[in-house]
Amino acid sequence: MFTYADLAKLQAQSLKMQGHIRHQTYSPEMEKTLRRFSSWEVAELIFKTNPSTLRGRLAADPSLPEGQVEEEGRQRWYSLEEINELRRKLKIKNRSLMPPRPAGKRAVRAAIANFKGGAGKSTVALHFAHAAALDGYRVLAVDFDPQATLSHSMGLSDVSEEVTVWGIMARDLIRETERMNAVQGGAESGATLPQRKLPASVTGMGLSELRATDFIKPTSWPTIDLVPSCANAAFVEFASAQYRHLNPEWSFFAAVSRYLDTIPPDAYDLIIFDCPPAIGYQSMNAVFAADVLYIPSGPGYWEYDSTTSFIGQLSEALEDLGRFRGRLPTGTDPVKAFADIKFLLTRFEPNNDLHRAMQSAFHQVFKPHVAEHPIEMTRAVEQSGRFLSSIYEMDYRQMTRETWRRARASFDRAYDEFRTTLVDAWDKLEDE
Ligand SMILES: Nc1ncnc2c1ncn2[C@@H]1O[C@H](COP(=O)(O)OP(=O)(O)OP(=O)(O)O)[C@@H](O)[C@H]1O
Ligand SMILES: [Mg+2]
Repeated sequence: MFTYADLAKLQAQSLKMQGHIRHQTYSPEMEKTLRRFSSWEVAELIFKTNPSTLRGRLAADPSLPEGQVEEEGRQRWYSLEEINELRRKLKIKNRSLMPPRPAGKRAVRAAIANFKGGAGKSTVALHFAHAAALDGYRVLAVDFDPQATLSHSMGLSDVSEEVTVWGIMARDLIRETERMNAVQGGAESGATLPQRKLPASVTGMGLSELRATDFIKPTSWPTIDLVPSCANAAFVEFASAQYRHLNPEWSFFAAVSRYLDTIPPDAYDLIIFDCPPAIGYQSMNAVFAADVLYIPSGPGYWEYDSTTSFIGQLSEALEDLGRFRGRLPTGTDPVKAFADIKFLLTRFEPNNDLHRAMQSAFHQVFKPHVAEHPIEMTRAVEQSGRFLSSIYEMDYRQMTRETWRRARASFDRAYDEFRTTLVDAWDKLEDE
């Protein structure tokens, strides 16, 4: 017979192995670091210009960053900071290299969500975050999933639950309860309603003292920050049910949205949410905070089946929120409206008849909500996963160049479309 103790023992063994893998992958610093990018990549893939044009511009202006030349190498290799400096200083054929960002607006937010496990959510979230950073955007990623795939792949594996979405939600409960008590106790209300009291188990966690920035961790990418997750954050699903009981008027679904509203509007350009494979408190917070809903789905029938259930369940859950009777802060509309909703096929094989048939079914049924460019199935993702990296982080010399290029091209096309969707959504957002 086996008990929880056996499970704990098995987990301890596995953690040892994980530590070993991280050690091998990230040594000698034991910390994830970001590689440099070759002048070929910078020109062709990042600035989308001719390598010789860029070389000419660099040679003509000694004040521009120089990059580094590797031993026995001919190319120059640039850090992301250097690439961003070039982006700010250079114009090519009168074209600015800065990505579009409407002035006077907060960062635009996208939730990558589906309750189908393994649909490719974390892979898409990671690759879009990296593609956006290479595109010149400042990105905040929020890991809503206690599996913490996104956090681990961004190099954050030692995370305590207070600084996850759980902490954000519990802190919001405390703050919202205080706000309601203040209004109820205030002269204008007539003070007829009872004051709500939260137990020390909630108020004693030290969350009230945390600042918004305490939840945000830097990553190995200088322009990507992360609100991480960890396995213990899974308990937020139990805890939130209790929190709602403690204060039934608490709009639990708007906690993360309220939190993000306290971040200065200009601090980031894009905020990307990786969601858990479930509809629960965490994913409802993600979806409620999002301007754009991006739904990845595998190309098989059962994935289509599951995606269909997901949008049905989500629709019901959102309709329920619309009937929320608790006291919302002014300006919060419980009827959630997205600027856009998109389905994105993942692990797609262009030569597979079944996949192509599913693709046309998606187009037929969900038009115009289907992303034109699916993400293709590629061995490069499996290979890069082994190095705890995205395809963008992998040095193309570490695998067959053609495999790398094809994989990167597929993510690039999907990202370009994602960016267009976000920029359109941005226009619809109100000015700050
Ligand atoms: N385009 C792709 N090509 C090859 N393998 C892929 C691709 N996209 C995802 N995978 C693999 O599929 C598996 C599931 O992907 P991922 O973790 O992104 O899914 P998920 O939806 O986040 O899963 P979960 O529901 O558990 O959070 C991973 O092993 C990943 O490496
Ligand atoms: Mg995931």
